[in-house]
Amino acid sequence: MGLPIGVYAALSSPVQIIDDFLHSFTSPIYACRVSYRLFFKHPYKLLYMLKIGPYKLNSRVILAPMAGVSDLPFRRLCMEFGAGLAVGEMISCNPQLRNTRKTMMRSRHDEEAGTRSVQIAGNNPAEMATAAQYNVERGAQIIDINMGCPAKKVCRKAAGSALLQDEGLVASILKAVVDSVDVPVTLKIRTGSNPDARNGLSISKIAQDNGISALAVHGRTRSCAFKGRAEYDTIAEIVQAVEIPVFANGDISSAEQAQAVMNYTGAAAVMIGRAAQGQPWLCGQIAARLDPNLDSPTPTTDDKFSIMLRHIKALHTFYGDILGVRIARKHVGWYLQHIDNSPDLRKAFNALQTQHEQLCAINAISQTTKSQLTENEVLAA
Ligand SMILES: Cc1cc2nc3c(=O)[nH]c(=O)nc-3n(C[C@H](O)[C@H](O)[C@H](O)COP(=O)(O)O)c2cc1C
Repeated sequence: MGLPIGVYAALSSPVQIIDDFLHSFTSPIYACRVSYRLFFKHPYKLLYMLKIGPYKLNSRVILAPMAGVSDLPFRRLCMEFGAGLAVGEMISCNPQLRNTRKTMMRSRHDEEAGTRSVQIAGNNPAEMATAAQYNVERGAQIIDINMGCPAKKVCRKAAGSALLQDEGLVASILKAVVDSVDVPVTLKIRTGSNPDARNGLSISKIAQDNGISALAVHGRTRSCAFKGRAEYDTIAEIVQAVEIPVFANGDISSAEQAQAVMNYTGAAAVMIGRAAQGQPWLCGQIAARLDPNLDSPTPTTDDKFSIMLRHIKALHTFYGDILGVRIARKHVGWYLQHIDNSPDLRKAFNALQTQHEQLCAINAISQTTKSQLTENEVLAA
């Protein structure tokens, strides 16, 4: 089945690759297997930069698609702080929903930082192919197919992770979408429908055979929803079984954990979802841990407030008065969890009704927090 999974993950820089290769000569059989896998089975691992089709990613950390979260303002911030790719919120393939406000907001890419990856969700191969073409015409550089979402709203229509139980339909969808566009198509899956039907491995081979360029795997089954802990054994098995880059996803919330998951699975990258909420700098910090050539200083409390302020202003501009204020509330709630985890503060912020009130409140919280910090520093001295 190949090398121990940790070996692939260790090959993280050209110098290390040569070093590892030389060390491998201690066992000729081992050396043959290393060179075979490196040169023929995992050529992307020889290149330091991760590529999806023609697109080189600046880091091996990918912001997960999150409906209601990974909108254009959030993607821009995460990319600015070091994500290699930020996948957009899923867009329905239903042509009747194309002109709704939600779909139109989700399809915006003006001043997108980095490669534009658009996720589509649906269950009809022809409809999904048309949706892929439609989004490519509107600027998508990568089409990502959603077979990972467990949301009832999505699965009731036998889309998202509900598709995993029908491998024939999976193959038809992938083929139809890949054939319909000339940009790379990626796929996001869970490890299966339920713990007794963990067919992620089989799906990943279907994906590779049908021309999928990269695969993100969330280490839970559909029926697990977000319960329990993500498992990485199935992801490691998938990495061993396919040649396309695999992104490990699920419950990764720190640079140390990301490194451990990379080592354990041998994945080409990690995909970060919830942990990035309220800390768009996290992807960059993880990227710096995975690649010593990258730099990502830890933001000070001051930095965090100015990032939050910039983010909230961007949300206000992007969504306008009413929606902007509503969407800003949840992001501020997440930021405050990492800065000042006071439920009262969050409650008070959620009661604010205008953009102006929200911006004034962030400035006020920032001043109070800073003076408290200074006071504590004086007391500690
Ligand atoms: C609020 C929210 C929205 C999500 N929306 C999507 C989506 O649109 N498409 C998708 O494939 N997965 C979606 N997911 C799943 C995430 O991409 C990711 O797989 C999951 O959160 C596990 O990663 P994490 O533990 O790093 O959060 C969503 C998750 C959350 C929390």
